[in-house]
Amino acid sequence: MDKMNFGLVGVGVMGQNLALNIERNGTSMGVYDRVPEKVSGFIQNKAKGKKIVGSFDVAAFMQQLEQPRRIILLVNAGKPVDDVIVHLKPYLDRGDIIIDGGNSYFLDTERRAGELEKDGIFFIGSGISGGEEGALKGPAIMPGGAKDAYERVAPVFTRIAAHVGSEACCAYMGPRGAGHYVKMVHNGIEYAVMQLICEAYHILKAALHLSPLEISAIFGQWNEREESRSYLFEITSKVLSKIDDQTKIPLVDLILDTAEQKGTGKWTSQNAFDLGVPIPTINTAVEMRMLSSFKEQRTMAARILKGPAKPEGNNAPVSIDDVRDALHASIIISYAQGMAFLRAASQEFKYDLNLEVVARIWRGGCIIRSKMLEPIRDAFRTAPEIQNLMVDQFFARRLNELQEPLRRTVRTASMTG
Ligand code: 6PG
Repeated sequence: MDKMNFGLVGVGVMGQNLALNIERNGTSMGVYDRVPEKVSGFIQNKAKGKKIVGSFDVAAFMQQLEQPRRIILLVNAGKPVDDVIVHLKPYLDRGDIIIDGGNSYFLDTERRAGELEKDGIFFIGSGISGGEEGALKGPAIMPGGAKDAYERVAPVFTRIAAHVGSEACCAYMGPRGAGHYVKMVHNGIEYAVMQLICEAYHILKAALHLSPLEISAIFGQWNEREESRSYLFEITSKVLSKIDDQTKIPLVDLILDTAEQKGTGKWTSQNAFDLGVPIPTINTAVEMRMLSSFKEQRTMAARILKGPAKPEGNNAPVSIDDVRDALHASIIISYAQGMAFLRAASQEFKYDLNLEVVARIWRGGCIIRSKMLEPIRDAFRTAPEIQNLMVDQFFARRLNELQEPLRRTVRTASMTG
């Protein structure tokens, strides 16, 4: 039997979709999971008729891959990654490449790369963004590690990545943990933008008394505007339009207002503190996630602690356009914080990040993809050394235009409680 071009370990939904994407783009796949039912389920269903072969034991899996092997891991961050490496290790040969496609902590990636390199095995830590759908249709890919090892996976990665025009949303980020570092900061920005969207929603609801369906339409309109089109606005509009089948109530009103977190946002804040870089919008978003989970305490406190005696919403009017502009300004600020932090981290860890390239590959496939990344990319192209996006000519002009509505919105939010 022909050897398979590429291996994948971790046949969850992300792993399945990534395997289908790689195969669809002309690369045969060998797949393996420690849970045999996952492999058989995949092979008998979604992988049927495709150049995807499943294995139920690690020796067979490793044998069926062409050498030097290229194996991507799609398992949960943390111990599972170490466990898989221990499991594969006896069968690995010099020159083989392991790619970790999960949300691993960058220092774990650096440790793993160091350990494997002693035996001549390459380790690429790669951020992959876009969720399950992105994995299937085209994610943004942020690989880091040994450059020559990356060159050997680049043809596959650039084919499976999202494309904006003819440009693939995949590029080499830098050595060691650079890829996972960039993905971590991507997620920090993701947390910030999601929190800002929630706050804009809440102001429209509580101060302007709009319904979820009306707010859905508003986000839909905002998403039509060239400068603010983004995936997160698009799905916000969709989510808010959803009516629960059973109760006929907007689904958003039935969802508990508590959110969990897997760790990438928290790591962003922790590392920014370590480096002494201010990223207050991202930090606040992480803290609001934590606060949301204290549901019982919040409910109890709301019975004791009073809001404003006379909500002054009507004396401090805010319009829908004000909220739109406040949100836009705040999103500019969030990207600016993330990028300034990446610049500092690049110096600290000698990652030699190219922020224009980071902005370029975030334009498609990933969760924070948005039209705003075009002028962000332009800013770093014209002034690669710019310290903060807020003082770039284009963004400074926009922020100066938007500051009045931003202040009005913040004032109304405060005065209406
Ligand atoms: C992505 C996402 C994805 C997920 C994060 C954050 O880029 O596809 O960032 O990785 O949203 O893991 O998850 P939490 O919000 O649960 O921390």
